[in-house]
Amino acid sequence: MGEIEIRDIVESDYEEWLRLFELYLVFYEKSLPTEIKEATFKRALDPSVDMWSSLAIHPETKKPIGLVNYLRHMSTWSVTDQLYLNDLYVEEGQRLKHVGRNLIEYVYAKGDAMGAPNVYWCTDMTNHRAQLLYTKVGWYSGKVIYKRPPG
Ligand code: ACO
Ligand code: ACO
Repeated sequence: MGEIEIRDIVESDYEEWLRLFELYLVFYEKSLPTEIKEATFKRALDPSVDMWSSLAIHPETKKPIGLVNYLRHMSTWSVTDQLYLNDLYVEEGQRLKHVGRNLIEYVYAKGDAMGAPNVYWCTDMTNHRAQLLYTKVGWYSGKVIYKRPPG
């Protein structure tokens, strides 16, 4: 494979972005209402919202083959903002070709450029495939995540 291009989404990407986002949700055996998916795409495009989405583009077909969604927030431990990498997905037939790594490194570069160099994310303990990549581009923090119970 030639050089993979990573770029931020534009309005006309919605269909392909949605296709990848839905495949990502299938991976998690989840589905989301259309209004949430539309809102996420709109927010990622809106320059006044600290949320972004970027796509990996196949060098030959020029089709999106991977997706990363991320957002910026403050921290009590730093005067600079942090980036939270919310979602990462690479199409099944395109894996193990450094697309995932390139998407994460693109987010690192964006973080550096916007003065928010600290990037973090979480994954399931059982997602060993993702962790094989994460231990190479990041370090394991040892933290556990808790959530407010529903209802
Ligand atoms: N043994 C050793 N190393 C391995 C093995 C293995 N069996 N399998 C993969 N690796 C390594 C590769 O060598 C590579 O490292 P390298 O860059 O040093 O060569 C790395 O793992 C894989 O890196 P990429 O090719 O960049 O990753 P890929 O494009 O395959 O994408 C991803 C990884 C995103 C996890 C993909 O598998 C995917 O989309 N999975 C389904 C969805 C998912 O799990 N998403 C992440 C959830 S967490 C989140 O969203 C924040
Ligand atoms: N066995 C069983 N249960 C226990 C035991 C024990 N040995 N010790 C405590 N508990 C239970 C208590 O019974 C209580 O449960 P209950 O409400 O059902 O009775 C619970 O654990 C403790 O609850 P609180 O009394 O509300 O908690 P406390 O006021 O002691 O504060 C805290 C807990 C904040 C973790 C405190 O110990 C602390 O400040 N620790 C140091 C700093 C720290 O660890 N902060 C959290 C880091 S993570 C973060 O900041 C997001």
